[in-house]
Amino acid sequence: MSQPHQTVKREHLKPEMLVFGISELDFTYATLDPETIRFLRRVFPGAVAVLDKDGHEILETLENLKPFDHLKGLTEIPPNLGASRVTPQTLLFYKAHGFLSFRVGIPGRPLPPALPLPKEDIPAAPAQPPKPQMLPGQRVSAAKVQEARKVIEKVDTANTHRQKSTMMVEEMFDMGRSGKYSAQSVESAIEDIMSQQSSPAMKAIAGLKGSDQTYAHCVDMSVIMQECYMDIQRAAGKPINDETKRFVLVAGFMHDIGKSEVPKEVLESTVRFAPDSREMMQLRNHTVYGARILAEMGMNKTVVNVAHYHHVKMDATMFTSYPATPYDQVLPLTRLASIVDVYQALIGRRKYKKNWVPGKAVEYLLKLKGSEFDPKMLDNFLRVIGLYPVGSLVKLSDGAMAFVITQAPLDSPKHPVVGVVENAKGELVTNHDIIDLAQVQDVSIVEVVDHFEYYNKSEDQAFNLFKSIKLP
Ligand SMILES: [Fe+2]
Ligand SMILES: [Fe+2]
Repeated sequence: MSQPHQTVKREHLKPEMLVFGISELDFTYATLDPETIRFLRRVFPGAVAVLDKDGHEILETLENLKPFDHLKGLTEIPPNLGASRVTPQTLLFYKAHGFLSFRVGIPGRPLPPALPLPKEDIPAAPAQPPKPQMLPGQRVSAAKVQEARKVIEKVDTANTHRQKSTMMVEEMFDMGRSGKYSAQSVESAIEDIMSQQSSPAMKAIAGLKGSDQTYAHCVDMSVIMQECYMDIQRAAGKPINDETKRFVLVAGFMHDIGKSEVPKEVLESTVRFAPDSREMMQLRNHTVYGARILAEMGMNKTVVNVAHYHHVKMDATMFTSYPATPYDQVLPLTRLASIVDVYQALIGRRKYKKNWVPGKAVEYLLKLKGSEFDPKMLDNFLRVIGLYPVGSLVKLSDGAMAFVITQAPLDSPKHPVVGVVENAKGELVTNHDIIDLAQVQDVSIVEVVDHFEYYNKSEDQAFNLFKSIKLP
């Protein structure tokens, strides 16, 4: 007689147990990609997926899974599948694939014959051919090193640009407070970013460093938005020129300009205001003020639209949606801005709140797909931002700690290039191992780590470590 099912954590699995379902998965399954879907279909034929659709749990066959579905777990795993019976090999497999807890039963003996797991899935799924030419003695190609160089070697310049831009945004707000609006200083900051191509490195810094509620937020949001918009345009086969890049940056820098008309005490307060308070009204009005200010400055209508409608939600009945506006008035760039605005607020550290690692932020955004955010635009955004944005601190399967230094390929989002900064014994290394995870079979990412918590609550330590990574 079988015992009733119970749920156990991976550490508590025992050899006599049979796994009927996987009830908790790490965040890499929060947004499914084609590679993961192929893997699930191959290893768990006949199992049923538990998906999160707009906050509701629904069951779906693996055949019907689609990229960007949000997988919460697997159920009805046929007991004769090798993966369902606990062995030392399956334990390794569960660990390598980020399966965290399980629905198990203890069967009467004898156990059903277990099918062997596909060898290449232990411990990690195989990388895709063809292999690019690796640098001699390295686990990374020259092309990938070149890509990483654009970030690592630019990080100092980019940080200066970020500081300068933040000051310029603040100055623009201050001038606005005395009734003199001018985009001149911001435009000079934008020229610096453009001429030095600092955006990719600035995007990495946005995750590495904290941001205040207003000024650095505008800067970080701009560069994330610009990088995303460019990728979306590229994917749609549309032309990208400097004019478009500049224009997206301007829209990001200016999106909260209306906050200059909100009293400073309200803007900088760390207290949450009551929904019907005067302060809340003042805060919300920044969108209307912003649209008016930008229109008076003669800004392009898309820039005005971003400032006016970046808090409008698909579901206008939500309290977080303002001002009252039909969603078809919200332009695509504004829809992207509303996603990036929330994402940046979640990952950017503020004095009074803990930040979220990108994976958790992505999970949160997915819950709002279709209610707050345009599903198509959210898919675009998630595809671009990936599971491991550049600058993420990750733990590898061999126990080492590494920073993500290039964006993972779109078809293989779990395999970015990483630079190891700490060995498995927890010692900082000076000879940084650079590994393209798409090209190696023996190492994979097991966890995203909050770099701020990990490095003694000092964001400078993480930033300095990141920029110290030496490339071959
Ligand atoms: Fe805003
Ligand atoms: Fe904002």
